[in-house]
This record gives sequence, structure tokens and C-alpha cells, in this order.
Amino acid sequence: NKNIVVAIDGYSSCGKSTLAKALAKKLHFIYVDSGAMYRAVALYFLRNNIDVHNHEQIVEALKNIHLNFHSRDYQTHITLNDEEVSDEIRLMPVSDKVSEIAAIHEVRKEMVKQQQRMGHSKNIVMDGRDIGTTVFPNATVKIFMTADPKVRAERRYKEIVGKNPEITLEDVFENLAHRDYQDTTREESPLVRADDAIILDNTELTPAEQLEFALDKVRPFA
Ligand code: C5P
Repeated sequence: NKNIVVAIDGYSSCGKSTLAKALAKKLHFIYVDSGAMYRAVALYFLRNNIDVHNHEQIVEALKNIHLNFHSRDYQTHITLNDEEVSDEIRLMPVSDKVSEIAAIHEVRKEMVKQQQRMGHSKNIVMDGRDIGTTVFPNATVKIFMTADPKVRAERRYKEIVGKNPEITLEDVFENLAHRDYQDTTREESPLVRADDAIILDNTELTPAEQLEFALDKVRPFA
């Protein structure tokens, strides 16, 4: 009786977390937003002026970072050293910096270790960039999401303009393009589709249709 692991990877703002949350809720699985972990680490690095080229500083910082999820309603509630940072990690300073910090070897090693622990014995849906390739190479079901870049930028813009009133659609488009470039070209576990991942292009699919698609893949195991 092995636990079920669903790995959802893909580009920035493809709707990974929307699908992952809906799926977890429907199946009563745990949901883990791995991107929130990298964002919280980035926030800590920004606040404490950690030099991304200084190995000692990075190691020391990682020792002082304690992350916790409180997923009471299948939304992402994350604390950084007991401080709720769920909103702040979505703001532009973090979005602009996160991919650089997520490319650091020591950071990835620590986050992957924590993520593997979370999925060790529980039914889980985790979304990110390297879940099906590195974190859970033996995941029960792997989904790789894509969508038209313009559609992605429009969706993300609508989602964040409330909290970032000065932002333009152009800014969002550029941030996504920049993160996708960094995420796919970095040396360590770059964003790439695992050979056994099912592709889901959701440019023209509603959230309900995406959920149906994913449920069809997972139900045989649940
Ligand atoms: O998923 P989200 O867009 O919030 O992730 C923020 C950033 O964290 C990504 O652009 C990527 O650089 C990094 N990330 C990662 N590996 C993951 C999840 C996120 O490198 N598994």
C-alpha cells in the first residue's frame, strides 16, 4: 500500500497551483506549493542581504531559515521563522529575485530534502519545476503544464494587480519570460519535462476541464 505522489511541473504561471489545489482538495491529499518555499528563502535572502556568491553566508542563512506550511483550506499558508509571509512572497521584489536564489546548489539541496520528507508516507500533490525529475522521480503520476505565454501573463496580471497596483501587463510578461529562461537554463535540476510526464496545455481549458483531465490520470491509483 504505497502512498500516492502527484508531481505537477511547468513554466511560471501555467496554473499549476490552481490545478494542484483543486486536485488535492478533491482527493483529500496534502498539497505542497514548492515554489512558496523558494520564495520564502528568497525573502529571507533579500531581508538579510545574503550574498548569493558567498558559500558560508548561504549555509549560515539556510540554518536560520525554518519554513512551515499551514494548509488549512488548501491555500498556501507559509511561515518563515514563525512569521506569516504568504502575501509578501508574491510581491515583485521576491518574484524578481527568486529564480536566482533557486539556482543555488545549497538552497536546492535543502529544499529537496524537506520536500521529499513531506511526501514520504502521505498522499500528496506537489507543484514546482523539478518535482517529477528530481524530488520524486518515482511519482505515481507526473503532469507537465504549459500554456501560451501571453495567456499566462494575462492570468497572472489579473491575479496580482490588486496587491501590486503600479504593475503593468508588460512587467508581468517580462518577469515570466525572465524566470522561465533562468529556470530552464540553470545548471542544477533545470525545468524540463520528465520523460514519463503527461503534457497538459491549458491555454484553452477551464480549471474544471483541467481538474477532470488530472482526475482521470490519478483515479486509477486512488
Ligand atoms: O511556482 P512559483 O512560480 O511560485 O516559483 C517561484 C520560483 O521558484 C520559480 O520561478 C523557480 O525559480 C523556483 N522554483 C524552483 N523549483 C521548484 C519550484 C519553484 O526552482 N520546484
